[in-house]
Amino acid sequence: MSGRTLGCRACGAAQEGTSLRSRCECGGLLELRGSIGTERPGAEWKKLFAERRLSSTGPNASGVWRYRELVYPEAAPSAIVTFPEGNTPLLHREALNRFAGLGELLFKHEGQNPTGSFKDRGMTVGATHAARLGVGAVACASTGNTAASMAAYAAQAGLTAVVLVPEGRIALGKLAQTVAYGAKILAVRGDFDACLRLVDEGGQALGLYLLNSINPFRLEGQKAIVLELLDQLGWNPPDWIVLPAGNLGNLSAFGRALSEARALGLIDRLPRLAAIQAAGAAPFAKSFADGFATRHRVDAETVATAIRIGDPASYERAVESIRLTNGVVTTATDAEILEAKAAIDRAGVGCEPASAASLAGVRRLVREGTIAPTERAVAVLTGHLLKDPEILLKDRSALPITEVDATLSAVAAALE
Ligand code: F0G
Repeated sequence: MSGRTLGCRACGAAQEGTSLRSRCECGGLLELRGSIGTERPGAEWKKLFAERRLSSTGPNASGVWRYRELVYPEAAPSAIVTFPEGNTPLLHREALNRFAGLGELLFKHEGQNPTGSFKDRGMTVGATHAARLGVGAVACASTGNTAASMAAYAAQAGLTAVVLVPEGRIALGKLAQTVAYGAKILAVRGDFDACLRLVDEGGQALGLYLLNSINPFRLEGQKAIVLELLDQLGWNPPDWIVLPAGNLGNLSAFGRALSEARALGLIDRLPRLAAIQAAGAAPFAKSFADGFATRHRVDAETVATAIRIGDPASYERAVESIRLTNGVVTTATDAEILEAKAAIDRAGVGCEPASAASLAGVRRLVREGTIAPTERAVAVLTGHLLKDPEILLKDRSALPITEVDATLSAVAAALE
């Protein structure tokens, strides 16, 4: 068993690895400390992961727990709370290569996780940790995906789930999913950032274990997006990994995964990370533009509800990921996001709006000359097409729907 501890990024203070806190006394975020995976050389890990991929039951069937020694070695395999999750495809569509202006572009479709987003990767670890510590209730702030995912894993682990959502600003399907899994839902009169502040500052006093992405165990699970995609590429890293960025949990987890994968000899070079924000919710892009001299906060507004976040919680660790990988941060307008989404949908892939920011971002970076047309990129699609369907259905006159009488002649006439 690994003896990892939790350490504060801000002041360095250490806590037991079994602490229920996400923050230190000083307010800094906690992260897991201590080496993992050093018991084998990289080549042996690759062999073991490949063998485990043949399993169809138990933790090895999960695209997170197959890599468990690099994610959460403290969990006993019999105590793991898993769907299973992960095992998401790497997709190639010629039409989208043309859209982006890139010869080799792949899509890691995290919307194909069991509850419809990448959140399941972190929640399986967060819920396993919560169950291991014996907590009774878990909580999160959410615009939809986190809520549905947490509710599902809480149901599996027998935990009470409490969800804070911005009132009137959660997608209906996601709300329905959260209700179905049995969560208690508080509709807060405020935005996502206000919801997160409430659970972050007050959750512990109310006996709630926080499962937003500031939770260090969730981030360990999200590392598996990168581990799995590298594995699918035969551990031959792409030149770029491109992802939508809101609260910056993924960006933090990706940097950590890449740095660990290189240290273990799983890869011999680091891909560059490109984080894409919606132009109306781009505090991190603003900080990148001034060399991270200032941490910005904005009032966020964008059609991409999943990244409508004005005060990203994982700012510091995300800065580290960009610096480590010589990464970039850029923006995409709502119009560009919707155009990219239409292209992804029409290619038969489909995703929710925030995910499409990654393709819009690739196109922008290729046009600007930051990504060369000959480079190889993997864009991460973080969520399923069926989040935020209102965007597709808003303009009813533009829908390909014709109402007809229940007669063959009416059907034939409509198809003329
Ligand atoms: N993509 C999707 C589909 C999301 O649901 C989220 C976050 C993000 C990207 C942003 O990822 O925070 O790691 O930068 N959704 C949160 C939620 C807000 O409540 O489901 P990040």
